[in-house]
Amino acid sequence: MSQPRTCPVVAFDHNSPEHSADPVASYARLRAEAPVAWTDAHGGFWVLSDYDAVFEAARDDATFSSGRSSYGGEGLANTIPKAPVRLHIPVELDLPEHRSYRKILNPVTSPAAVAELQPMIERWTTWFIDQVIEAGSCDFASVIGVPAVVTLDWLGLDVDDWRRYSRALHSVLADSPGSPAHTHAVEVDIPWMEEQITAAITARRARPSDDLISYLLAQDVDGAPITDDAAYSMVELLISGGVGTTASLVSQTLVHLSRHPGQRRQLVEEPELLTRAVEEFLRVFSPTQALARTVTRDTEFRGCPMKKGDRALLAWSSANRDPAQFEDPDDVVLTRWPNRHTAFGMGIHRCAGAHVGRAIARQLIGEIIRRMPDYVVDLDGLQTYAHQGVNAGFQRIPATFTPGPRLGPP
Ligand code: HEM
Repeated sequence: MSQPRTCPVVAFDHNSPEHSADPVASYARLRAEAPVAWTDAHGGFWVLSDYDAVFEAARDDATFSSGRSSYGGEGLANTIPKAPVRLHIPVELDLPEHRSYRKILNPVTSPAAVAELQPMIERWTTWFIDQVIEAGSCDFASVIGVPAVVTLDWLGLDVDDWRRYSRALHSVLADSPGSPAHTHAVEVDIPWMEEQITAAITARRARPSDDLISYLLAQDVDGAPITDDAAYSMVELLISGGVGTTASLVSQTLVHLSRHPGQRRQLVEEPELLTRAVEEFLRVFSPTQALARTVTRDTEFRGCPMKKGDRALLAWSSANRDPAQFEDPDDVVLTRWPNRHTAFGMGIHRCAGAHVGRAIARQLIGEIIRRMPDYVVDLDGLQTYAHQGVNAGFQRIPATFTPGPRLGPP
């Protein structure tokens, strides 16, 4: 419901075609004119777009709750509009419950745990590149299935279904409610995904294996065995968090490096630069563009009167290009350091899978530029996601390159 505000009211909708046509320019305007503003879109919400505002709200989780509620409709609490999926744990929990579940994830997502995943990441990267390397042309969107397959393999789900999981979760989060893609996701693909995960949980309860689902089912939460429902909520979040984000990062990076062959050459010649370069790609491309919170009490935030139940959108991507925080924010500086970007969020919900995402991105980008050093993306054939409000990126990336040999078995 629209209400009188003493703060700027803007005509902003992160899901609109106007915003999706150029999210960087759209946020630059907003950040310069009204870094904390109210918009009437989607029932009304605050949009926070400069670094300080995003930082302050993300760190004040008592005032900016991630918990599920009926404010702003039903569904996933951290998107606007809310997406019709089951509860995601721990991203939709506030303290103290959040801590009980987050500590389950920390040991399996630590740098040491990710080092153990590295051989699997390498194997799948080789396999995906092998599928196209002899042809001399491909759609990179099919090669960047690596994050999805690694996540499913890690969890112990059927890797052959990676496209269906990716499509379902992307569509339900990013497409407009009522659109054919969204309706198909809600009515067909999401129920299918729920069946797969539920069946896997039942199977691992009966016969544990060495996969992540079995690990989750063996955990206690505050002294009691984890429930199947909670395990489901964690599995769905791991797929949702692991699949689209890293693919988005790699897709945008590959297009950037086609446009900037000098930077690509530099990364091929000095692969040790990749670690910092990936942080810079995270900053400029911000795969997760913006996520939401719900205000828990009447308060004044940066001079704006926020009311209990108001929804607020934290634009990570806009914070990442704030000139007050980053020098020449629109330049891609491969060696930028320090680089305090917000691409993984901030505060208690900071991405649990950050090390996994980084490891996959480094391997995939590194191997593509090593094995296809002269690839050229057909920029006219590029297709972005229809909506760039939550996940930015490309769904079609046609490219040509000098064919090379396969490295793995046929
Ligand atoms: C480039 C890759 C990635 C990006 C940009 C990204 C981004 C984010 C962001 C912005 C958040 C904060 C959510 C919030 O504040 O509401 C988050 C949380 C989370 N991400 Fe990621 N993510 C990535 C990769 C992954 C991967 C690979 C996984 C798992 C396999 C993962 C699992 C999670 C989980 C479980 C949370 C919730 C943490 C919590 O609530 O404590 N993410 N991610």
